[in-house]
Amino acid sequence: MRRKLAAGNWKMNGLAAAMTQAAAIAAHDANGVDVLICPPTTLLAQMANLPMSVGGQDCHANTSGAHTGDISADQLADTGATYTLTGHSERRTDHAETDAMINAKTTAAYAANLTAVVCIGETLSERETNKTLTVIETQLAGSVPDTATAANTVIAYEPVWAIGTGKVPTNDQIAQVHAHIRARLTERFTDGADFRVLYGGSVKASNATEIFAIPDVDGALVGGASLKAADFIPIITALAAS
Ligand code: PGA
Repeated sequence: MRRKLAAGNWKMNGLAAAMTQAAAIAAHDANGVDVLICPPTTLLAQMANLPMSVGGQDCHANTSGAHTGDISADQLADTGATYTLTGHSERRTDHAETDAMINAKTTAAYAANLTAVVCIGETLSERETNKTLTVIETQLAGSVPDTATAANTVIAYEPVWAIGTGKVPTNDQIAQVHAHIRARLTERFTDGADFRVLYGGSVKASNATEIFAIPDVDGALVGGASLKAADFIPIITALAAS
C-alpha cells in the first residue's frame, strides 16, 4: 500500500507570520495521509517543530563549499527537514537545471537521508506536439538516480502549463501520464510499484476529489493552494477520503 502524500510547495512565499498557517495545517487530523510542506528555507527550522513533515525546495549536489546562496542537503536535514524537492520546473527554467544536475542533487539528498520529490513535466508546446510521453521518459531516466527506491523517492508529475495557471489536464491525460510513469518505474526498479506518484499543477479543493480518483495518483504537489490552511486542509481531506 502506498501512503498518500499531500505536499505543499510554498515557493518564495511566506514570512514569519505565515507560521500560523503552517501550525493550523499541522494541527489538522490528516486521517492517515502524510502531510509535507516545503517552505522557504527561512522558515524550515521553525516549521520542523510542528507535527508534520517539512522539506527543502532544492539542494546543492555538494555537501558543503564555496557556493554562495546555495543550500546543501545536509543543511536541510540539519533543520529537521526529511524531504526536498528536486527538479521543479521553476528551477529547470530559472536556473537552467538539467536532468544530470537534478540527478546529482537527488543523489545528494539520499546521502543526507532526505526523501526526494523529483518533479517532471512537459511544456505546453511539448504537449501540443505530442511529445509528452517522450519528455516524461527522458526526465525520469535522466533525473532519477539508479539508487532510487520507493522509500527515498517520490515522483511529482507537474505539466509546466498547469502550474499556477488554473489550467488542469483532463482526467484521461493525467491517467495516461501516471500509467506511463508507473510502467517505467516498474520496468526499472524492483520496487517500482511502490513509488508514490503525485500530480501537481493548479490543484485546489474544487478539483482535488476528481484528481485523487484517477488511478496511480497517490497525492498532490500543491503550490498556491497550500499557502493557507483554509485552502490546503480541504485538499488533505479529499485525499484522505479517496
Ligand atoms: P500550483 O503550483 O499549485 O500553484 O499550480 C504547483 C507547483 O508548482 O508545485
